[in-house]
Order: sequence, then C-alpha cells, then structure tokens
Amino acid sequence: MPPRFDLSLSENPFPPLPSVLRAVHMTLAQANRYPEFLPRQLPMLIAQHVGVRADQVVVGSGATGVAMQIMQSLITPGADIVYGAPTFDGYPIMCEMTGVAGVPVPLGKAGDQDLRAMLRAIGKRTALVVVCRPHNPTGTVIPADELKAFLADVPTRIPVLLDEAYVEFLGAAEYTDPLALIKRHPNLLVLRTFSKAYGLAGLRIGYAFGRTELITRVGKLQLPFGMGAAAVAAVAASYAAEPELTARTLRITEARDALRAALLSRGIAVPESHANFLYLPGPGIGTALRRAGIAAKCYSDGSARIAVGDPAADHAVLRALTPTSTP
Ligand SMILES: Cc1ncc(COP(=O)(O)O)c(C=O)c1O
Repeated sequence: MPPRFDLSLSENPFPPLPSVLRAVHMTLAQANRYPEFLPRQLPMLIAQHVGVRADQVVVGSGATGVAMQIMQSLITPGADIVYGAPTFDGYPIMCEMTGVAGVPVPLGKAGDQDLRAMLRAIGKRTALVVVCRPHNPTGTVIPADELKAFLADVPTRIPVLLDEAYVEFLGAAEYTDPLALIKRHPNLLVLRTFSKAYGLAGLRIGYAFGRTELITRVGKLQLPFGMGAAAVAAVAASYAAEPELTARTLRITEARDALRAALLSRGIAVPESHANFLYLPGPGIGTALRRAGIAAKCYSDGSARIAVGDPAADHAVLRALTPTSTP
C-alpha cells in the first residue's frame, strides 16, 4: 500500500502558485521549439535577483545537476570530497558516479557539522569541501562567525561548495551575506535550488554562483539545450510572487516549530531546525512512522527525517509518535 503521507524528500507541501502555473503553461504551447542553446536568460534573471553578474551564475537540473557539474568540471577521478555525514544523499551517490572518494566526517552530537574535524580531514587529494547551511538532515546552522573562520582556513586551491538549498527558511539572525563571502573567497561556490522554498522540485531548477573564474570553469560542461523554457517562466513568475512565497515559507516554519515543540514534550530530542524538515533521533522512529503510513527518510540507527508544513501530515506524525496509554 502506498504511504498516506510521503515526507521523505523534504518537499514543499504547497502546489505551485496559480501565477507560476499560468506562466509555465504558456511556455508549453511552444514545446515544439528548442529552448536556448546555452541558458542565458535564466542566469541573467537569477543574477539580478541575487545581486551578481550573469557570468557569476551557472544553472542546471536542480541543485543536484549543478553539484554534479561542479564535481565533473573541478575534480578528477581519484580525488577526495570532504563532507559532514550524514548529509544530502546526492553527495555520496555522485561521488560513486564520478569516481571520487567521499570523506564523510561524522556530525557532532548536536547534529552540527564538525568544522574542525572537516578541516583535519582535508588532505593532499581533497578537491572539494561541501558544507550545508542549513544542514540536511538535522536542520542545524553553522554560526556565521564559524563559517567565516572555516572558509579562511580552507586552502584557496580547494573549492568549497556552500550548499544553501534551504536558505530561504533561515531566520534573519542566521542569514549571512553570500556576496561578501564570494568577494573574500575566490574558491567559494554557493549552491541553491527552486525545489524547496519555491516549491518547484518537479521542474528541476538549481543554480550556483561565485567568482567568474570558477563559474566559467563549471560552465564549460553546460549541457546544450539542457534547461527547458519552462524554467525561465517559472523563475520569473516566482520572483514576481515573492510576498506570497514568503508567506508560505513562514507558514511552514511556524508549523515546523509547533511540531518540534510537541515532539520535545513527548521526549523526542529533535534538534532546532532552520529548514523545512525535522530530524527525529532515536531508535524505532522510522518504524513507528512507517506503521502509521508515513514515509520518512530513515537512518540506520532508527532515526528519521520528515518534511513539515502539511497540517494533516504533521498531525499524523504526532499521533504516530504519541505513546498510547495502556489501561
Ligand atoms: C542539502 C541539499 N542540497 C541539494 C539538494 C538537491 O535539490 P534539487 O536537486 O532538488 O535542487 C537537496 C535536496 O534534498 C538537499 O537537501
């Protein structure tokens, strides 16, 4: 039987906004035509929004596609990638695909990336370091000053991928200015996606930005005709609908905090999350959710990560994890 709720992929529970749907729909009438040979409009749109030049942006098939392109263009087989573990599944998978050795550095007790240990793990063969902010699966955020110190300590010859797939869920207090960071660090690439806060996971739109020299190297592997015309329309319409999308993001983060508080009161030590998911540590959590018809991302120690924001699903999670009192 399919699960009643699928919370396994950290998706946005809201369907696309009507204005975004209309814009995408209009492009379908031209689907007999190829899109741009190499994407120009999309990097321009994104660059304007982010506050960089178009030649500082590379786009691809979701953040996953962009990360893969980064790995293929900057790393030779046999090299190492350092990342906190567990992390977004894509990283170990893409290491396998590209013949690169993943160097997983266990997270700290609080679910945070252990930056000191990550620095120690950097060696001669290291060709990329990935840090996620917020981190998947725990939702924790590296404090801004620690991130800055870390970036200063990584040798400049090694590119650093700052994965900000969930950046729009950060509160103002946690936000750091990526433009100042890329100005200071020529080896930094910031990775983002339209899959999460923008709710367009099915359209596969991601991007990275950084200094022109590095982006140009990554852009060399841009797939001709690789970005459909719907992506440009969806991004333009999404930027035009920013207030509505921000209101949705706020609903998701409020629901997240309410669910976390309820789970804490039931004795589940859920770390404070700054993304659109919660990490539920403890043996048996994944099993209890599965028995209740809830698909979660499960970990070998029985812990689970769930997407939040759908009131019915949030309620089902609480019921599944509330011990029933026996008479
Ligand atoms: C940390 C992180 N990075 C990147 C991605 C990839 O997102 P997408 O390929 O949908 O843009 C995800 C997806 O879950 C993620 O959690």
